[in-house]
Amino acid sequence: MKSASFLPIIGLVIGMVYASLRYQKLKPKLDLSTEIKAPASTSGSALLTDAQANGEKLFKLNCAACHKANKALIGPPLNAALDEWGGDKEAMYLWVRNWPAAIEAGYPRAIEVVDYDVSAMNLFPTLTDEEIDAIFDYASTVN
Ligand code: HEC
Repeated sequence: MKSASFLPIIGLVIGMVYASLRYQKLKPKLDLSTEIKAPASTSGSALLTDAQANGEKLFKLNCAACHKANKALIGPPLNAALDEWGGDKEAMYLWVRNWPAAIEAGYPRAIEVVDYDVSAMNLFPTLTDEEIDAIFDYASTVN
């Protein structure tokens, strides 16, 4: 075999090495995955609106000791609560701020749910309607 017949093969190998080096150098520029990643969320789950994110904070701060959004804990799951109250937000705000007043006002769910657990819920007289909405809005995002 004549030595000249190796030349094209050597040329090919050099070409491949060169292309691979070029690719290594270009790869970081071609990698767009960091730019299309979803924004970090504290819950690691769904992307939340501002109100829901605020609701998540309020929930963790005030309610999470006794409630889960989607499961029974000491109290009932909060993502089902509004349905349990027949969609009556005003009644539920009253319960959250001052549950004995909701019993006194004669709301059937208040009278029923008070026997749910031997422990009693705290009163949250400073929570506004918007803050309570945000908590339940957040809870509804948790499946
Ligand atoms: C100290 C424990 C505790 C904390 C903290 C707590 N809850 Fe409760 N919650 C309960 C218990 C227990 C019940 C069930 C009623 C009962 O047994 O007295 C309840 C019931 C409820 C209900 C009625 C649910 C239904 O299905 O009718 C709602 C609504 C509710 N809580 C909302 C909240 C919200 C909102 C927060 C935070 C701002 C909160 N709770 C914080 C213990 C707690």
